[in-house]
Parts: sequence; C-alpha cells; structure tokens
Amino acid sequence: MARAPWWRDAVVYEIYVRSFADCDGDGVGDLPGIRERLRHLADLGVDAIWLTPFYPSPQADHGYDVADYRGVEPLFGTLTDFDELLRHAHELGLRMIIDIVPNHTSSQHAWFRLALVARPGSRERARYYFRPGRGRSGDRPPNNWTSHFGGPAWTRVPDGEWYLHLFDAGQPDLDWTNPEVGDEFESVLRFWLDRGVDGFRVDVANGLAKAEGLPDTRRGTPLPFTDQPAVHDVYRRWRRVLDSYAGDRMAVAEAWSDDAELRARYTRPDELHQAFNFHFQVADWSAAAFRRVIEDGLTTTSMIGAAPTWVLSSHDQPRHVSRYGGGEVGLARARAATLLMLALPGSGYLYQGEELGLPQVDVAPEHRQDPTWARSGSTDAGRDGSRVPIPWSGSAAPYGFGPGSAATWLPQPDDWAPLTVAAQTGLAGSTLEYYRAALALRHEHLAGLDEPLEWLPSPPGTLAFGRGRLVCTTNFTARPRRVTVEGRPLISSGAPVEGSTAVVRLPPTTTVWWVRR
Ligand code: GLC
Repeated sequence: MARAPWWRDAVVYEIYVRSFADCDGDGVGDLPGIRERLRHLADLGVDAIWLTPFYPSPQADHGYDVADYRGVEPLFGTLTDFDELLRHAHELGLRMIIDIVPNHTSSQHAWFRLALVARPGSRERARYYFRPGRGRSGDRPPNNWTSHFGGPAWTRVPDGEWYLHLFDAGQPDLDWTNPEVGDEFESVLRFWLDRGVDGFRVDVANGLAKAEGLPDTRRGTPLPFTDQPAVHDVYRRWRRVLDSYAGDRMAVAEAWSDDAELRARYTRPDELHQAFNFHFQVADWSAAAFRRVIEDGLTTTSMIGAAPTWVLSSHDQPRHVSRYGGGEVGLARARAATLLMLALPGSGYLYQGEELGLPQVDVAPEHRQDPTWARSGSTDAGRDGSRVPIPWSGSAAPYGFGPGSAATWLPQPDDWAPLTVAAQTGLAGSTLEYYRAALALRHEHLAGLDEPLEWLPSPPGTLAFGRGRLVCTTNFTARPRRVTVEGRPLISSGAPVEGSTAVVRLPPTTTVWWVRR
C-alpha cells in the first residue's frame, strides 16, 4: 500500500522569522539564525517548519506586505541563506513550507508603484482595485468596507481615485479577475517549488475574489470579500502546479470561515490540501467546547476525504497559556490541550515558543508595532504580545536571541530566565522536555495511523477517545475525576496518575495518554 503523504499527519512548527533567532546581532531574527537553531527543532521532534514571509518588504505588517515575491528581505538574509536553510532542514529530515501572500502586495511592490504614477483606467491600475469615490467630489470611499486592522479599507491617491486594502494601507489588494495576476503567482509558486520548498501556507486564502461590483457589506448577508466562488478557480490551478512536482508538495489555507461547508470547499480533492481549523484555536477550556470543535473539524474534513488540522497558538492570536487564564492554571491547561491535540487524527501546527510555555506578553504601548494598534486608534493592542523574540539562554534579555546584547525588536520580559531553551533542557517536568516526550510518543504510536477517532465513555468534564492502541483522556475540571482505562499510562501533561489498572484518578486539568493492553 502506498504510504500516506507526509503532510496528512505532520507536526508543523511555525517560525515567525523576525522573532526566532538572530544571527547578525541587530535584534531582529533572520534566516541564518534559524539555520543555526534547526537542531532545536530536530531534537524537539517536529516534522516540518513553516516560515512566515521573509521576502523584501517595508515591514508595514512585518512581511505580510511583500514588495518582491522572488527575493529575501536584506534584514533576514539573502537568497543563498534561504537555499542553505532549506538544504540544512532537509538534511535534518525537516520539511519546509513557506508563506505566500496572494491577496495583496506591498505598496512598495513594482506593480503598485507603477499603478500610482499611471492614469485612472490604465493597465497598471487594473492589477489592483482602483475606483472613483462616492459623492459629488468623489471624496467618500467607493464602498463601506473596513480594514481588518481598523479604519476604512480604502485610501485616496492624489488624482482622486481610491484603492482597496482589506488590511493596512501599505497592503493594496490585487484584482484576481485580471489574468496577469494569476499568471504571476503561478510563476512565483514555481520559483520556490523549483528551489525545493515542500509547500505553502496561503495567507488570507478566502479573500482573493471579491463580489462583482464591490457591493457594500450589509448586516445579515454574506461578506462580499470572503469565500466568493471564483476563489476556488485559483486553487484548482495551484493544485495542478503542485501536483506537477515530485515529492508530495502541499498547501494549507488560512481561511477564517465560520461556515464549515464553506471552509471544506478549500480542501476539495482538486484544491488545497489542508485548511486551518481556527475554531479549535479559539475554543473555550471545557470538555463540551472541545468535543464540539473536534467533531466539527472531523466531520468537515471527512465529508471530502481531507486531512484535519489543529492549532492552538499562532502569530495572530494570544498564546494559549494566557488564553486559558495564564499563570499556573493557564500553563496546566495549555499543556493538557497540546497533548490532546497531538492525539487527534490529522496534523498539528505548533507556534514557536509554545514548547517553552511562553505566555502572551503585555507589550508597553510605546513599543507596540502591529499596525492594528495605530489603525484602531489605539484601542486594540494588536498581536505583538505573541511575537516577542524567543529566549534561548542566559539570565537576562536578550536571552541569547542574538550574538551580542542588542535589544530585541520587541522587548522581552525580565522574568524569562527560567523559560529559556537552555534552562529547560534536561530539566525533568519542564514544558520543553514534556513537548519532546509527547512528540516522540506521537511518532511511536500514531505516525501513519489511519484509524479514526473513537469516543469512549467518560465522566462529565472529561473527554476520552481511542485511536489504535492509544487512549487519550483529558480532565478539564479542577478536581480529580475517576476514569476507567484498560491500559498503561504513557505520558501525563501534569501530575502522574494514581489508581488501580482499570479505574484511575485523573488529576485535575490534565491529559493522560495510555496504551491499551
Ligand atoms: C494573515 C496573517 C496576518 C496578516 C494578514 C494580512 O491573517 O496571518 O499576520 O496580518 O494575513 O496579510
């Protein structure tokens, strides 16, 4: 029987390039820094890494504003550094996927610069959404859309036209009805596939197509800039490109769609391979909420034979330790949630630093850099708190982030010394050693296992399910719970389990894996 493609059950580690490791000592992470630290990831036991955008960019949205899709931002290194990183990752047995940002370019992209100096109605403007304004003097935006970062989604240029940007003004939306755009992106995909990347994470995958005529949004009706049917033509084309390369190249969609059926469409057999399941990421800490999102995720993907995905933290959301309440309780819940996630069918996406148990940081207003902060009129603190550079070693900032003592681009807290990779390595009970053990056990017991999940009876406030010989039990409550398990405990996210072989006391806020007898 053919082996299932690697991505169906891979654990993929997200690297936020600015914040992972700094080689040249400027306080900003870079590609050579990642290369130097790849050992950490191989030792951790992940299967693949995902790099956030590292392309030339004015960094208005930290790289999600791409000025040139075929290069490397000098702040992060060179194309040779990229090739070296990829080669080294492959040598260590790690796959590498990269972010592709097709919804918008940077306002510094050559196409947009040409569009700005071209006249209304020109071919140069037709790659973006330039429109006249409303009102007698055209001084009102063409429609009522707002930016995801706050404020209007339109900015006016000196000749009076407006251009659309669903995010920052430095991120103009491309017009995917223009065939030049599709051709350009096919060529960009090939550029990186030819260099050997294993796949892509598709940024704002559900936003590329807009409803014809760019109608106003209206309460109670579907948004005119997400999940439009035409977006799927793009991914059918991309799938043909990916399939034309050897080696199971893949793509995972970032598509925040509430409707399960709409989400499933992105992973139909002739489209992308996976889509993130953000409902799992934002589920409340309760047995009922988790069971609901797990069942929903499994049903959505099984309808079309796709592989489910699970994620708890990312560069866009508060870290799960803090989302679950912070402190000791938050950490206990986060560890329990991770072990539960790693037992589920499909693939899991980890975010850098979660293996250290890092909490969300309350970045002081004067240091905030996320465009959300300014665009929301300083009402939304934005996402900087999950993007603080990784502490590697030492007792004070920058905790070995770079070779010198340069301040990191976002300040690190003073109390991170016990959380560094060095401090946790070899330390019994540390979150890092716990992740390593969990990932090794996942490989041993679940790799390549095509078994669906089977729910098992368990008391209120707990969940239990089996997969193959593995049983996963989670106690979401703050009190011990008795569960019946015919098995031997393999790993606990918290205290060890007590009890006879069949009926055991599951410690509070803990997940335990068992191997069935
Ligand atoms: C995605 C990215 C986010 C970025 C946005 C605009 O949601 O994950 O970080 O700000 O797209 O590109």
